[in-house]
Amino acid sequence: MILVTGGAGFIGSNFVLDWFNSSQEKIINLDNLTYAGNLENLASLSDDDRHIFIKGDIADEILVADLLRKYEVRAIVNFAAESHVDRSILGPKAFIETNVVGTFNLLETSRAYWNSLDEKQKSKFRFLHVSTDEVYGSLGADDHPFTEANRYEPNSPYSASKAASDHLVRSYFHTYGFPVVTTNCSNNYGPYHFPEKLIPLVIVNALDGLPIPVYGDGKQIRDWLYVKDHCSAIRCVLEKGATGETYNVGGWNEKMNIQIVETICDILDKRHPKADGVSYKSQITYVKDRPGHDRRYAIDASKIQKDLGWIPQETFESGIEKTVAWYLDNSTWIENIKSGSYRQWIDANYFGR
Ligand code: NAD
Ligand code: DAU
Repeated sequence: MILVTGGAGFIGSNFVLDWFNSSQEKIINLDNLTYAGNLENLASLSDDDRHIFIKGDIADEILVADLLRKYEVRAIVNFAAESHVDRSILGPKAFIETNVVGTFNLLETSRAYWNSLDEKQKSKFRFLHVSTDEVYGSLGADDHPFTEANRYEPNSPYSASKAASDHLVRSYFHTYGFPVVTTNCSNNYGPYHFPEKLIPLVIVNALDGLPIPVYGDGKQIRDWLYVKDHCSAIRCVLEKGATGETYNVGGWNEKMNIQIVETICDILDKRHPKADGVSYKSQITYVKDRPGHDRRYAIDASKIQKDLGWIPQETFESGIEKTVAWYLDNSTWIENIKSGSYRQWIDANYFGR
């Protein structure tokens, strides 16, 4: 059995759903269902006894210790985190609590469990920590994409909290021999992406006839990876990754934000034209920039390709078409999110910006 944390969020739920396409091994899914956790993502597994959902916090040492022992867990995949940069700017505390203290508690509890295993089980055990390219800071226009050797230069409370967790994970390998492996991935997109992040926000606002907010000059660059490719990379690293190593994961898809926004508008114009024939691009609105906004991220994914044989399956063009189609087909999922605390966040981040 494996323990997945944060498996009701965007990437975690895609990982859980995809896992059962190629494995019968059970998953315990530990998630405390913050605003970003959504059990609707996992509705198709509601009668599937391969999936055991537990509502709880990664920082809860008693609960986690019980789960590890009871289910004889052989690996942990740690997705649980606060993940939105803008929220970390308006309220950093939760990021320290979950990403730093939560990861620390999870490491401590897992290390104690690992120490109780026999030598054979110990050698097979893995703690896979899911992290981000944002820990490396911001690239200049002509800089080489981030490799695993880049120094850490986090610039937002979010990326600083993820960097802190990465350092703790690293130290547990070097100090205790605890068998960790870390992935640092670029921007994901795809089904079940919470509409506070750029791509789903653009789709949702476009369809609602609302302004499509572009921060600053819109020329910031991100390196986009379809979420199912990230999930396949994590499965690959879990199976074949060397302990103590880190692997950068990316799609070789650098795009300016404004290109992303215009591409989505083009797809919507084609698939779901407005009654008045006006392009969705007319809703694009430049707004005040994000404080400390990183200019460019890009991942050099050569190591995971060369050492483990992983390559992404989707191009940006194929992935974004699938993504827009998913949102058009899943209006109930969107409406249910919008009926919760989502509106308060939109007001806090955009009203009077
Ligand atoms: P998300 O915000 O959609 O989901 C996070 C999940 O973690 C939610 O289900 C939430 O309920 C849960 N969670 C939060 N705090 C918890 C706690 N204390 N205990 C248990 N569960 C808790 O995030 P995501 O976009 O799916 O990202 C998942 C992981 O991947 C994060 O660690 C993030 O840093 C990393 N990552 C994300 C991206 C991206 O583009 N989204 C890229 C690279 C890395
Ligand atoms: O790089 C990996 C990271 O990607 C992950 O670690 C984070 O968890 C994930 O949220 C994402 O961070 P970003 O800050 O890059 O993603 P976001 O979707 O918030 O923003 C993408 C870009 O679009 C960024 O340059 C800011 C810009 N943006 C975002 C929003 C929400 C806008 O221009 N307008 C917006 O309204």
